[in-house]
Amino acid sequence: MESNQLAEKQRVLAEAGQARHPFKEIFYRLRDPALVGDTVMRAAAQSWHLISPSEFSKLYRQVHGHTMCSVARLRGLHEGVKWVIEKHLDGDIVECGCARGGSAALMALTLRQLGERRNLWLFDTFEGLPAPTADDPDYEIAELFTGSCLGQLDEVRKLFQDQGVADGVRFVKGLFQNTISQSHIERIALLHIDGDWYESVKVCLEELYDRVVPGGIIQFDDYGYWKGARKAVDEFFAKRGIKVEMKRLDYSGRAMKRASP
Ligand SMILES: C[S@@+](CC[C@H](N)C(=O)[O-])C[C@H]1O[C@@H](n2cnc3c(N)ncnc32)[C@H](O)[C@@H]1O
Repeated sequence: MESNQLAEKQRVLAEAGQARHPFKEIFYRLRDPALVGDTVMRAAAQSWHLISPSEFSKLYRQVHGHTMCSVARLRGLHEGVKWVIEKHLDGDIVECGCARGGSAALMALTLRQLGERRNLWLFDTFEGLPAPTADDPDYEIAELFTGSCLGQLDEVRKLFQDQGVADGVRFVKGLFQNTISQSHIERIALLHIDGDWYESVKVCLEELYDRVVPGGIIQFDDYGYWKGARKAVDEFFAKRGIKVEMKRLDYSGRAMKRASP
């Protein structure tokens, strides 16, 4: 599909979705008490990190207005970057799904804090979420989000320039399905998959998992929140016969280290 057709389809779906959202989603989510508890914890953590003097909190305050990721998941990325550097793991940092750029900027700021440089690849439509598919088990709710989570390329570029961390950042605009396979990424030290839908997560794993170095980090933003994201992850590892140990970051986020082949 042409980019302008995709944008138009997303706009129409987004308008229709926004008219029904948020009540439909709220009623759907309220059925899970664990999410309600997580939301309270999330709000408390956000408030704390807005005043805490810790090194992580200082970085958090620089990006929190530009991200939808929770504190726990941002901390997961911060710890992940530190791990990669401490262990001298070779490879780039890759984020699939950056929206307004906050989680990616946090990783770039962490690198700067450590006095390190790495290539940072950012993949996104920069036109908001594409439509989910019938492979997303919660399609009825997911489709309400088509066109949402919009971060425009100029806005994200500006964030990196304003923070002074634009060097070595590659912005790749388009659907993961069209862009990732064309990108010349050799080795990945940290892979952040934040694409929400089944097809989006699936293509990221199929194209990029083998390039993650042993000991490298893979963080999934949506494993607990969107059923299609979880399905894509579980299916991928089951098909490969790989048993993975996932670290639970919060209700939705999970992180793992790639084992040696
Ligand atoms: C939840 S947002 C990412 C949030 C971001 N990491 C942050 O810090 O707020 C998900 C992003 O994934 C992108 N996305 C999802 N599926 C995609 C696909 N198949 N191709 C390109 N971008 C996609 C959307 O455009 C959206 O910007």
